[in-house]
Amino acid sequence: MANRGGFSSRIGFIVAAAGSAVGLGNIWKFPYEVGQNGGAMFLLVYLLCTFIICFPIMVGEIAIGRHAKRDAYGSYATIGGKKWGYIGLFGILCGIMILSFYNVVAGWAFGYFIEISFSNLLAETSFSEFFGRYTADFGDNLIFSVCFMIITAFIVVKGVSGGIERASKILMPMLYVILIGLIIYSLTLENAMDGIRFYLLPDITKLNAETIYSALGQAFFSLSLGMGALVTYGSYIDKNQNIVGSAAMISIMDVSVAFLAGLLIFPLVFSQGQTPSEGPGLVFVALPGVFNAMGPLVGRIVGGGFFLLLCFAALTSTISLLEVPVAYLVDEKKLPRKAVVWGLAAFIFVVGLPSMLSQGAVRAFSSMSWYGDKSFLDFVSEVFSDISLPLGGCLMSIFIAVRWKKHNLSEEISHGFPNYKGSIHEKIINTMITVISPVLLGFMFINTV
Ligand code: PFF
Repeated sequence: MANRGGFSSRIGFIVAAAGSAVGLGNIWKFPYEVGQNGGAMFLLVYLLCTFIICFPIMVGEIAIGRHAKRDAYGSYATIGGKKWGYIGLFGILCGIMILSFYNVVAGWAFGYFIEISFSNLLAETSFSEFFGRYTADFGDNLIFSVCFMIITAFIVVKGVSGGIERASKILMPMLYVILIGLIIYSLTLENAMDGIRFYLLPDITKLNAETIYSALGQAFFSLSLGMGALVTYGSYIDKNQNIVGSAAMISIMDVSVAFLAGLLIFPLVFSQGQTPSEGPGLVFVALPGVFNAMGPLVGRIVGGGFFLLLCFAALTSTISLLEVPVAYLVDEKKLPRKAVVWGLAAFIFVVGLPSMLSQGAVRAFSSMSWYGDKSFLDFVSEVFSDISLPLGGCLMSIFIAVRWKKHNLSEEISHGFPNYKGSIHEKIINTMITVISPVLLGFMFINTV
């Protein structure tokens, strides 16, 4: 993808964008959000947000990028003028902040891979205690997240089309296989059905503003929307791609991985007598129990394999997060790609240090009284993903509605979708982007603030 290159094929783009979407958001964040926000009701609202609000926004972002063929800032600025470029800049800021804490959590996944495969994590007596100790250990955190950032930067320097496109094509199917295998196993455990009930039977009394706003934020985060990642990726594809079809495939892949992760985690949580509202430690506490039950050797192999795949899923997301500010500095400031990548990686790593220290290593960052006693990591995640990404989506729809105009959007989409104009797809997408999304997302944003 170096220097305004492009994806090698339609599949290459879909795999890279799905790789960006599928990550820690699906396997780490989604289950704990479900657990904290009322189980099946959250799942239902999340699915509605994904297909009704986020899907049209994804189509819009890709179309903007492909039309302008520039980075997130440049795309808005070229089409709409400099002022509109601030939407892109806002997205770039969110990308930097999200990567800063995402890399810390990716470091945990990497550490768990090492600890399960080559050390004695599975012999621990309490996985919850271990997780607490582990995330508070600054040394381990530092090493693993430095490694993760270096690997990310290394791949972004090389460009995505070779290594990562090819690797994703093998790794994504493997992730499905291992998830489905583990689900079948977990369903045989005692009390597993209680977990299924919690996950799949909605309880209307659990529906409240908090559930809706968390589900919306989760849908944006999981699909990598609202911060210009798909504008940037869209700028690397050619005109004959069917944007609507590609966006549908990306969304379905993303949702299916999240859905499967829930199907795995909740039977485990209930069969091991844990609480679903455990929070960010949920996967790290629930999963080792099942690997442990498989016996030392099999547990090591399956458990190590699982966390390794989780690392790969996270990696295809960190790559896209880093690519957004990199593309901006390369396209707009004409800086050399290699220096930009390493410079930004180091900078973002440093920005992430308070999040890393907030997991028990430094008290001031761990429980901030002015922020409901949540940690700094929670704070960054809430502000820059749960609140800012839907806001980014809202601004993008306003941009299309009042500046770019819907007929230009239709024109762009119809290059790769000849019957698009006049079709039902066009009507739905236009109405969603230019009417429903700005109103709904704007209303929710004002409410949140
Ligand atoms: N979608 C990623 C996940 O679910 O893990 C996170 C993410 C990646 C968000 C890229 C935003 C982004 F631009």
